[in-house]
Amino acid sequence: MKKENIFVETYGCQMNEYDSDRIINSLGANPVSDAKSADIIIVNTCAIREKADHKAISATGKYQKLKKENPNLIIGMSGCVAQLYGKKLLKDIPYLDFVLGPRGIPKLPEIIKGIKDGTSHRTIETSMDVQDVFDVNPYHQEGKISGFVSIQQGCNKRCAYCIVPTTRGNEINRPMKDILEESRILISKGAKEITYIGQTVNSWKYEKLKFYDLLNHLQELEGLERIRFTTSFPRDITSKMISSMKNNNKVCRQLHLPVQSGSNDVLKEMNRTYSIEWYRDSILKLKEAMPDLALSTDIIIGFGNESDNDFEQTMNLINDIKFDTVYSFKYSVRPGTPGEKMKFHVPDKVASERLQILQSRQREITLQSNVEKVGKIFNVLIEGRSKQNPDDLFGRTTHNKVVNIKDIDAKNIGKILKIKIIDAMQNSLVGELN
Ligand code: SAH
Ligand code: F3S
Repeated sequence: MKKENIFVETYGCQMNEYDSDRIINSLGANPVSDAKSADIIIVNTCAIREKADHKAISATGKYQKLKKENPNLIIGMSGCVAQLYGKKLLKDIPYLDFVLGPRGIPKLPEIIKGIKDGTSHRTIETSMDVQDVFDVNPYHQEGKISGFVSIQQGCNKRCAYCIVPTTRGNEINRPMKDILEESRILISKGAKEITYIGQTVNSWKYEKLKFYDLLNHLQELEGLERIRFTTSFPRDITSKMISSMKNNNKVCRQLHLPVQSGSNDVLKEMNRTYSIEWYRDSILKLKEAMPDLALSTDIIIGFGNESDNDFEQTMNLINDIKFDTVYSFKYSVRPGTPGEKMKFHVPDKVASERLQILQSRQREITLQSNVEKVGKIFNVLIEGRSKQNPDDLFGRTTHNKVVNIKDIDAKNIGKILKIKIIDAMQNSLVGELN
């Protein structure tokens, strides 16, 4: 039987990218890059900020025309927007065939079958009570150098602004043997680097094992050269985790540690459960153990009662720590979160001004950190053809910096090579074989 063609449009975080690959694999379908040739189109959505929601709905609109041309085409929406608005989406989008929450992926084959044989119509699957959340592994492309493996679904923290616990449910940790098994599949297909993902990866635990035990076991995987993980939660940084990172020769010298704000008052309102002193102290310990550790963070601007003084403390933090990268966002109120009930909201104009100040200062810090790398030599894992110039290749340093490399043969893809940095851009480096 001919495999069906599937086109998945993905929005949002790495977890969604991973889920899109699970969707493809659950159906054993053939992924295509052009929606016109698809038998099934799925928009996998993100609800983290209001803008993301709107994007999901308008993205789906593009496919209405294709459905008119081909009435057998199946169009579905998955991901966090699907979970959040459920039935309402079927009502508002008349050509949508199904709505599928992040926990429902193992049920997808059944849903598609039902739609095809006419036993079900306009299906909705948003139950949180699903046992087999990890049942379907993703479609892993042959020859991909760097891939993801999920170790955790959902989140048990309750940050006041965040929709994730609503859309993805409580934390469920994946058994270690399944994590190792999927890692081996990836490695057998050519992966040299794996990023282990979860909303708060370092809170992972299974039976008697903790996250640092998992890191130690992952190091033993033959053929795996590099280990990354994201996102870490500051409160769950432990000294055992730090020493396991330090002593693990595969763990990259890079950590994404969202701080959200530099002010204790704001952190408290956010329910982040750590103080800024705790955060700074964790960074100090991490840097003491791994002096060349590259740090990145997330910051929300304009949450709750954030005052000029609170914002100044956030600026002090980014000036002190000098993160390599800061992902910063204006606070967006999300339905059903504790933040929605807060009376005071920072006026949009003030939040925009603060965001602009922070982003322009951070651009300087990032560029400075890139410029300092010129003339130095780094081990770079070569991943593929450069996005800007297909004659060049690109790779990443242990610090997760993208390096575009000139005059280099494509047979080097998959190798770790010594690359000399010859130029620095705002978001990447330029290098040559040393
Ligand atoms: N689990 C991760 C990331 C969750 S979402 C963590 O522990 O932080 C990714 C980022 O989106 C967050 O770190 C936060 O900075 C941002 N974010 C989440 N909710 C938001 C909201 N309502 N408005 C603006 N930014 C938000
Ligand atoms: Fe969201 Fe906080 Fe969890 S940001 S994903 S509730 S750690």
